[in-house]
Amino acid sequence: METNFKKVVLAYSGGLDTSIIIRWLKNKYDCEVIAYSADLGQGKDLKPLKKKALMTGASKIYIEDLQEEFIRDYAFKALKADAVYENKYLLATALSRPLIAKRLVEIANKEKADTVSHGSTGKGNDQVRFEASFYALDPSLKQLTPVREWEFKSREEEIDYAHKHKIPIDITKKSPYSIDINLWGRSIECGILEDPYQEPPEEIYYLTKSIDKAQSRPEYVEISFKKGVPVAINGKKYSPAALVSELNKIAGRNGVGRVDMVENRLVGIKSREIYELPAATVLFTAHRELEALTLDRETVHYKQILSAKYSELIYYGLWFSKLRESLDRFFDELAEDVEGDVKLKLYKGNCMIAGRKSAKSLYNVKLATYEKGDSFSHSSAKGFIELFSLPLKVRALSRKKTGKKQ
Ligand code: ARG
Repeated sequence: METNFKKVVLAYSGGLDTSIIIRWLKNKYDCEVIAYSADLGQGKDLKPLKKKALMTGASKIYIEDLQEEFIRDYAFKALKADAVYENKYLLATALSRPLIAKRLVEIANKEKADTVSHGSTGKGNDQVRFEASFYALDPSLKQLTPVREWEFKSREEEIDYAHKHKIPIDITKKSPYSIDINLWGRSIECGILEDPYQEPPEEIYYLTKSIDKAQSRPEYVEISFKKGVPVAINGKKYSPAALVSELNKIAGRNGVGRVDMVENRLVGIKSREIYELPAATVLFTAHRELEALTLDRETVHYKQILSAKYSELIYYGLWFSKLRESLDRFFDELAEDVEGDVKLKLYKGNCMIAGRKSAKSLYNVKLATYEKGDSFSHSSAKGFIELFSLPLKVRALSRKKTGKKQ
């Protein structure tokens, strides 16, 4: 096994695992550790991480605000693709990993580091996403995953190690849950949630109000789209990250975006996870409604097949793949026509379509109307149906001849 690691760039959140990792790496491999923390909209100030990382033994720390890049180049791509894993999960955690991995690799190259590392558990999808991305971006870098290697068997043992090495940890905030959060959504697991029959306790939620505490009147919100991505809320323009942040508040106060799911992890385990996806839920609903108005039938139906595939690619950590890039080009082409405004009604956990309009609408009232002014060719329908159902008719005639019952 490789034991020669000189300089490691570590994805650092400041939580228990990654705090210990810095000290553990230095003790075990006598290497230099550079910490890296990305602000993806976790909603907390990352500045205190600097002192913490340096105190714990890092030689340097990078703290970067990646919120705009994350929403524009990752989340909005998934939105254009209508990517929903197993019909429920809008991939908030999954989308963040390739971006963090990309920056880790870039910094490793800049700092002439030989190794990249992360603190994701050995049972989850995130380890796959990080490491697959590292391989795709720079196969010459070494990879180190302390949590798969180290001797600690429980959180308590990790806490003991932290005490022994005077690593500051916040055990007062100790919660039974494992939480990942960014602007696109929040993922919560562990504790009582591991029993899929137990209703999630209210205390786990943070971005969304419960149904009884949500506003008692419906709230309307209008989202405007250009080239398949949202650009304005109620007529007011926002940058991608600012738009999602604002919409999280609006949808959250109406209790929109809670998801309780048993999902199939890539590593074969079924797990129960709760998600809060307020803005993302509204945007996915709005986007699909606008596609229904502006894309033709065959395109919409074919796209549904590709959307499912695309969601798997993201979930499986294959962001930096030829297939994902090629599918994005296809979705970008379709997005040229996905423009207009969608009006939604948010009320006590529901996100309902209230109306949609587009200069590129394919909805033709003259064709659709049941009132006067109808331009649809009723006489053409007769011939169309005759030929369309010809195979059915031929089969029926044949069965009649051979005496087979329908
Ligand atoms: N199951 C989700 C995924 O694989 C979220 C993983 C992280 N969840 C957490 N609670 N820390 O993308």
